[in-house]
Amino acid sequence: MTERSLSEMPSDATPQGGSPEDAHIAEIARSRLGEPGPLLEVLHQVQAEFGYLPPGTTRVVAHELNLSRAEVHGVISFYADFHTEAPPRVTVAICRGEACQSVGAEALVNNVRSRLGVDIGGRTADGLIELEQIFCFGNCALGPTANVAGRLHGRLDAARLDALIDEAHQGARLGAR
Ligand code: FES
Repeated sequence: MTERSLSEMPSDATPQGGSPEDAHIAEIARSRLGEPGPLLEVLHQVQAEFGYLPPGTTRVVAHELNLSRAEVHGVISFYADFHTEAPPRVTVAICRGEACQSVGAEALVNNVRSRLGVDIGGRTADGLIELEQIFCFGNCALGPTANVAGRLHGRLDAARLDALIDEAHQGARLGAR
């Protein structure tokens, strides 16, 4: 969406029929109305509570703070710290450091890439798993090493890593329902 089309949108449209998420964002914005220049503080608080800036953020915050959507959108897109995409439920980080490479890390990376259909930095189609690379977890003697859903695993082979990812993915699917 361009700045022009955003600026043409009325900021005084009441976020009617909004979701509970929108209502909570509105509550956050209202709670800071008396503060000078509250936009950044409101956005930081929304992100702290939701883990990202949900889709209704620009519309609701613009309405509550009596700003144009273009102003709010401009601030959100200016600061790299603001995230408009929900964080993944599961992060799979595979070590590509030298020690892990020497014991087969690259084959693990390639296997996971093709199994999940994502590249490094990408997410599965359902958005639940993100694949990352790390260049040493400090677990070199027990490589290849990967972190799956916050837990470090060493001496991995493709079958074990697949099983760990499948288990985490299944848990994430259930949690997303
Ligand atoms: S190189 Fe992989 S844990 Fe150190």
